[in-house]
Amino acid sequence: MSTHKDKLVIFDTTLRDGEQSPGASMTKDEKVRIGKMLEKMRVDVIEAGFAIASPGDFEAVKAVAQAVKDSTVCSLARAVRADIERAGEALKNANSGRIHTFIATSPIHMKYKLQMEPDAVLAQAVEAVKIARNLSEDVEFSLEDGSRTEPDFMYRIIEAVIAAGASTINIPDTVGYGTPEEYGALFKNVLNHVPNADKAIFSTHCHNDLGLAVANSLAAVMNGVRQVECTINGLGERAGNASLEEIVMAVQTRKDFYPVETTIDTRHIVPTSRLVASVTGFPVQPNKAIVGANAFAHESGIHQDGVLKHRETYEIMKAEDVGWNANKLVLGKHSGRAAVRARFEELGVTFDSPEALNDAFKRFKDLADKKHEIFDEDLQALVSDVKAESVDEIYRFVGMEVNCKTGQKPRAELTFTRLGQSVTTSSEGSGPVDAVFKAIEKEVNSQSALELYSVNAITAGTEAQGDVTVRLARNGEIVNGVGADTDVVAASAKAYLHALNLLESEGRAHPQRGV
Ligand code: KIV
Ligand code: ZN
Repeated sequence: MSTHKDKLVIFDTTLRDGEQSPGASMTKDEKVRIGKMLEKMRVDVIEAGFAIASPGDFEAVKAVAQAVKDSTVCSLARAVRADIERAGEALKNANSGRIHTFIATSPIHMKYKLQMEPDAVLAQAVEAVKIARNLSEDVEFSLEDGSRTEPDFMYRIIEAVIAAGASTINIPDTVGYGTPEEYGALFKNVLNHVPNADKAIFSTHCHNDLGLAVANSLAAVMNGVRQVECTINGLGERAGNASLEEIVMAVQTRKDFYPVETTIDTRHIVPTSRLVASVTGFPVQPNKAIVGANAFAHESGIHQDGVLKHRETYEIMKAEDVGWNANKLVLGKHSGRAAVRARFEELGVTFDSPEALNDAFKRFKDLADKKHEIFDEDLQALVSDVKAESVDEIYRFVGMEVNCKTGQKPRAELTFTRLGQSVTTSSEGSGPVDAVFKAIEKEVNSQSALELYSVNAITAGTEAQGDVTVRLARNGEIVNGVGADTDVVAASAKAYLHALNLLESEGRAHPQRGV
């Protein structure tokens, strides 16, 4: 039996398709932090954004391209010159850059969305790839809604874009409609029918509307695909994308079955999952495979007994191989500035000025006073807090007093700043958090609806920081504010004010709404 394994390219799109989840938008600094973690994990390609979407997105792609050296950095671009040139500009300083251009190819998308004839779509795709090739050696072409595209048209367009210079061909299951057998067969047919198919790497990009994204991606791998597009925690548009951690661990754990291997350093999976959850405010469900809090917890007596006698009776993977238990005690109350700075740098956090470092160090000391053990996750949350306060900041939390007594209505008095001016407000509420939110709204009157409120402990133990997400919606716009503090009511106030700041910041274009 041959032991040769093909390399499976891992293309992470957390920073682009992941960011298309309602409310999951990330700042430039947050993208750089996540990008550095993905690089450390040895992700092959990082899709950093959609450069033409907004000036902020352009700057974010550019910053990730500058910060990341070992992974290829990619920008999405519709199949139009302006998009492609903007992507090329953002990637100018990348060590290794890729332009990813796409156009919809299914009958329904061409007729209703693009209002174009297939031949015109084909011509535009070829033109787009040629423009991209003038700016980058590495060009990927995607057939949007590929899984619902007519096979003969698909073969024609793929042959033409490979001839024009595309070296990766992605056939997405954009609407999450495919089934593993059907989607796998699609690739088999493409490889058999496209005469120059051997000149490109084929790629899968699956959405999870039917919960089949990972199964569909792996079926594609079994039929010749050698790149998988995926996201951390399965974050992404609607029900999300195929989850990176599930794909990577399936291939690694079942190496007896899959004919491919990745070069991912799996020990960084859990810390990266935590970072993405804390930055986006999308918590990970406890029973999520690989990265959920219960993924390696054996509750039943029979399981525990078995695992104690011989781990492999019930465990197919080692928790430490994916980074569980890796949260080491990194720093304490007596750690100095240099140690704190070095640890931040290892986490991909750099400070633009001595003042920014001083601020982070002061926050670290304040936290160390309240909490004896400081873990990497605490530092990540601390930085999220600093960044949440500094980006397009209008409102900033200052302090509060909350009174709760059994049998009496909780009351909160809160002070925050609005454009630097101090505002003090108070309210009663059904609970302390409700009282804080009502007090803020009394002053701000944001006209937004609270869509989600969630609290998670960042680390174990009762002295852990609470990580709060507040999702607000206004006129169709959705934002997720995050806040962390050992006091969950203070964390809630910070998260609410962060969400209000995000509501006031600039909007961005969506790549899949028309060309
Ligand atoms: O789902 C999709 O089709 C996409 C493409 C733009 C690659 O995200
Ligand atoms: Zn997608």
